[in-house]
Amino acid sequence: MSDPGISERLIFHDAIEVMEVDFSYMTFETEAQVNEFYDEVDRRCAPTNRRWYFLVIYTGCIIEPEVWDLFAARGKHANIAYGLGTVRVGATPATRDAIRHRAQTEMFRANIFENRDQALLALGEMRKRREVLGTDIAEAYLRVDDIHLNFGGVKALTGVGFQVNRGEISSIIGPNGAGKSSVLNVISGFYRPSRGEIVFEGKDRTHLPAHEVARLGFARTFQNIALFKGMTTIDNIMTGRSWKMKSNVLADALYWGFAQKEEIKHREHVEKIIDFLEIEAIRKVPVGRLPYGLQKRVELGRALAMEPKVLLLDEPMAGMNLEEKEDMARFILDVNEEWGTTIVLIEHDMGVVMDISSHVVVLDHGVKIAEGTPSEVRADPVVMRAYLGQG
Ligand SMILES: Nc1ncnc2c1ncn2[C@@H]1O[C@H](COP(=O)(O)OP(=O)(O)O)[C@@H](O)[C@H]1O
Ligand SMILES: [Mg+2]
Repeated sequence: MSDPGISERLIFHDAIEVMEVDFSYMTFETEAQVNEFYDEVDRRCAPTNRRWYFLVIYTGCIIEPEVWDLFAARGKHANIAYGLGTVRVGATPATRDAIRHRAQTEMFRANIFENRDQALLALGEMRKRREVLGTDIAEAYLRVDDIHLNFGGVKALTGVGFQVNRGEISSIIGPNGAGKSSVLNVISGFYRPSRGEIVFEGKDRTHLPAHEVARLGFARTFQNIALFKGMTTIDNIMTGRSWKMKSNVLADALYWGFAQKEEIKHREHVEKIIDFLEIEAIRKVPVGRLPYGLQKRVELGRALAMEPKVLLLDEPMAGMNLEEKEDMARFILDVNEEWGTTIVLIEHDMGVVMDISSHVVVLDHGVKIAEGTPSEVRADPVVMRAYLGQG
């Protein structure tokens, strides 16, 4: 099928954290060819024990329609397992269209560039954004250990523990009443556990109150939307900036020039978020008048305005139709890829969330019943039983 062997088509550029994948002038016609290539990707990436930016060269590469599903699925798996972000170079028009189409339906960024230099430049930007948050991507970033939480006689959580890695999307799933929101409330400092600890960036922060947890870099959205219904989209998102504003009323009076400059800076940031979430059209609309799906997006915007290191999302897709869910999933993936934000996502429904997370924790009756990659968890009979048992 190809001149250079597959092993020569995978080049690791250690210094810039890039794995170059050279598909140039290859033709994929059979599933065996696709599997052969991606088996090699697995074989080479797994032992590195780290994540890579993928620079994928598509020049003259042909992927026959029959094998596109497998090609995309294996590519996505590689990205979830080893990827930090992907840029693509030089696809033929047909491949370009296929990638763009899949990017839309399967929620990733197409990121197709004319040439290698442009692609590398874009990767450089991605790296810079991640570096702002720290370089060691794979360390245990947030550790939840042996958490117990009771409400009177109700045991909401019993010995729940798990780890969240920096820069990853982790999900907590489970039936209603399993304790998912409780975990998030403990992490964000709203509830105080009776036992156990929470360690963030190596420091114990189990007993910090919510506002101090927020200051450490945590932002969240709520299962029941908590926006100011009478205020516009832009003003609601602006409230996410308020904790960053140094000026108070007195300082405003004394240094109003400074305060004004600060306000302009915050407005600019908020406009960037509005642009990113594609909600320009509703900037000035009172949030109470928006459909539910858009309100959820505004709430995400407000959390993003806090420039969080960790974003905690409590059922961001609940009550949405499939299209709204896919939009939301795409924004969550984009946030993760654009800013390297660590995300902990709660979901009741196993479907969409399994596609976008690299790590899944399953709760039932306040106990962790399973944990692992989406495919491990999906295949777990105990998990199946918990979901089926619900009726
Ligand atoms: N503030 C509270 N007061 C009393 N009981 C609560 C409170 N929050 C949660 N619970 C109870 O804790 C258990 C877990 O609830 P929750 O964490 O909301 O589950 P989930 O988000 O998975 O649906 C449930 O039995 C619920 O009734
Ligand atoms: Mg809940």
